[in-house]
Amino acid sequence: MTQNGSHPLWWKDAVIYQVYPRSFADSDGDGIGDLPGIIDHMPYLEKLGIDALWISPCFQSPQGDAGYDISDYRKIDPLFGTVEDYEALIREAHDHGLRVIADMVPNHTSDQHAWFKEAMVSEPGSAARERYLFRDGKGKSGDEPPNNWQSVFGGIAWTREPERKDGKPRQWYLHLFDSCQPDLNWYNPEVRSEFESVLRFWLDRGVDGFRIDVAHGLIKEKGLPPYTERATMVGEDDDKTPSDAPMWDRDGVHDIYRSWHKLLASYPGDRMLVAEAWVKPLSRLARYVRPDEMQQTFNFDYLLCRWNAAKYREIITDSLEAMHEVGAITAWVMSNHDTVRHASRLGLKDAGARPQGIDAAHEQPNEALGLRRARAVIFMTLGLPGSATLYQGEELGLPDHTTLDRKYRQDPAFFRTEGKEIGRDGCRIPMPWKADGPSLGFNESGELWLPQPKQYKEYAVTVEEKDPHSTLALYRALLTQRKKFHLGRGVLKWAAPRENVVEFTNGDVRVVLNCGNEPVALPPGDILVASHEIGEDKMLPANAAVWISVSKA
Ligand code: NOJ
Repeated sequence: MTQNGSHPLWWKDAVIYQVYPRSFADSDGDGIGDLPGIIDHMPYLEKLGIDALWISPCFQSPQGDAGYDISDYRKIDPLFGTVEDYEALIREAHDHGLRVIADMVPNHTSDQHAWFKEAMVSEPGSAARERYLFRDGKGKSGDEPPNNWQSVFGGIAWTREPERKDGKPRQWYLHLFDSCQPDLNWYNPEVRSEFESVLRFWLDRGVDGFRIDVAHGLIKEKGLPPYTERATMVGEDDDKTPSDAPMWDRDGVHDIYRSWHKLLASYPGDRMLVAEAWVKPLSRLARYVRPDEMQQTFNFDYLLCRWNAAKYREIITDSLEAMHEVGAITAWVMSNHDTVRHASRLGLKDAGARPQGIDAAHEQPNEALGLRRARAVIFMTLGLPGSATLYQGEELGLPDHTTLDRKYRQDPAFFRTEGKEIGRDGCRIPMPWKADGPSLGFNESGELWLPQPKQYKEYAVTVEEKDPHSTLALYRALLTQRKKFHLGRGVLKWAAPRENVVEFTNGDVRVVLNCGNEPVALPPGDILVASHEIGEDKMLPANAAVWISVSKA
């Protein structure tokens, strides 16, 4: 490892870049991105100035939920390449100074996993069924689901097995997500040892860590008590806290992470775990990053915050405090493959609100305003102490595809809600690398698993690379300065609060973000980076941000 991400406890201030392999770069022209495609773009990733890559699942999978339904945890799906390609990716990344974080999905397998296939042909009560959550149905003939739990993707969280050859009553299995994603039984020691072995398999191949999918969901309350709310992952700020949900955030999950912590610690080189845990309040979230558990947990309160300076201040203060309480860092994030991209969210009338996808029938975001705010908000994200995760394409200012035709929809949530929820496809569109060609440089064939919206051309990497004021140039500048001033390891000090302004110093840098519609005066100091032009009057325009050097002020 040469430069980025090479220091001890690198994850404390790392900038992690989420690669969504299906949509990053397609080397073989089948319309779906792949591992050689990622390897080809390693120089681009290094030049961006990030420290690590989080690679969304590319393990063997029938792709019922875009790879979050894994049928063999030790194989790479042929769509993406081979285990050798993954090893090559790790090597290349390391040679470019980047760490690699794999995406581990322990809450459920695919229904095509050997274990589930075995369970389906095994007796109720058999060891094969004990790896999952099979239950008898309710009602005289057992044709009602065992309880009232609903799937995160809509509909009931249970599916009944098909007619049995032996004519015995058919059982039901639990799936908090799609029916092709049966939940595992984490009370079963065999499940635990299998996953430890899977973690070892990838650690032995050199991964630097794992992002743990649905980290708060592995343990379900014994007896599976009824729960009337939908088992949502959203946790919007106006929702009631989901802490009473029997499928989420049960205390028992922490034993699992304690044992994984030990396992990772037995390997050299500061390997890490980052939790995808939609947990409230922050004091509960902090339990995932106690010293003997995981290293990071994504801060979704930050992601879900509306465009409101006072709210940002509150969430930042509360998050830093809650994580500090357990000696952990905060992991800031604004976008990922499950949420409408923030360049689009911030262009909505209720700026920052998190819709379940946007299509032509919905309010269309104001693209220019959304982009303007997206360029500004990153000054705050990268100016904060701790780690930050970027989602591929946000460095270009990409919006969602907000008019994607229903015929292209692939997200199971779209089908399970009968189209009431449009789903997450809009934020998963293939990357525009070039301004021309049928797939904007995503591949050479022009095949695309999801079509790109017209305006993606203007955001292409080749276009932005030529423009010193592009969003790409801005990200590169910010990432350089962040490193230079060690902002990830710094300490935040709030400036006196001003209406609509988020303003703090972190070491020698003053961060000022204007969330309001009127210009505000800037404090003295040399401007290091600005999201928009600052005039002679030294006023920070509306929806803009700067980093100012206060060392020379
Ligand atoms: C969270 C992942 O980020 C999402 O994409 C997936 O659908 C669910 N977990 C189920 O694995």
